[in-house]
Amino acid sequence: TVFENKEIASRKVAERIAAIIRRKQEAGEMAVLGLATGATPIGVYEELVRMHKEEGLSFQNVITFNLDEYYPMKPKSVQSYVYFMKEHLFDHVDIKKENINIPDGTLPKDEIHDYCLRYEQKITDAGGLDFQVLGIGRTGHIGFNEPGSAPNSGTRLVTLDDLTRRDASRDFGGKENVPTKAITMGIGTIFKAREIVLMAWSGKKAPIIKKAVEGSMSSDVPATFLQNSENVEFVLDKDAASEL
Ligand code: GLP
Repeated sequence: TVFENKEIASRKVAERIAAIIRRKQEAGEMAVLGLATGATPIGVYEELVRMHKEEGLSFQNVITFNLDEYYPMKPKSVQSYVYFMKEHLFDHVDIKKENINIPDGTLPKDEIHDYCLRYEQKITDAGGLDFQVLGIGRTGHIGFNEPGSAPNSGTRLVTLDDLTRRDASRDFGGKENVPTKAITMGIGTIFKAREIVLMAWSGKKAPIIKKAVEGSMSSDVPATFLQNSENVEFVLDKDAASEL
């Protein structure tokens, strides 16, 4: 779906998320959301915060699982995805702390494997993801599933692509400060979500959107695997869609 601009598109996505939260609330159930970081979803989070403040949208029945976190990464660090989520969403709504899940960037390496299996299990135990928010990196990554990622991959420790580290270098004051690794939900984990929305704005994303939507399916561009799934929608602004 192509929208005139990212503001309108973000509002539409936020409305879909709010509808799930309200529907679950009425049924006395938890809404399970898969969340993403990066500049792309900020407008969606802003709109959800506005709905909380002005329309009484409650997050008391919401469980969230974030896609990824840099490794190593301290939660208090301004570059952490924990910091990002607090700043843009969690600190401004009434979500219960115990219902927030973000991969732990502080674990010793030999504990990561088991931790990732538990992260995966926790999503299943919560009833599975009702809705997954995605952005896309210029390498075609979703979450931090870089080129080479398998379509059935699970939550795991990955090595970041050079282009991804270059794109993140501004946040870290130089590429050399960007962690070389991250913990990410796998493509297989993402696929289990009942609804998936991948958002992209601006002409900078147009070439990778073209590859993701029209290119042949391959782990060279992990987002192409989304072509395989029926419950995926690409939500784009005009510029991101300009090469389609
Ligand atoms: C990071 C995140 C991804 C995100 C991507 C794009 O690499 N791990 O989840 O989609 O950046 O970021 P942006 O939305 O800032 O373009």
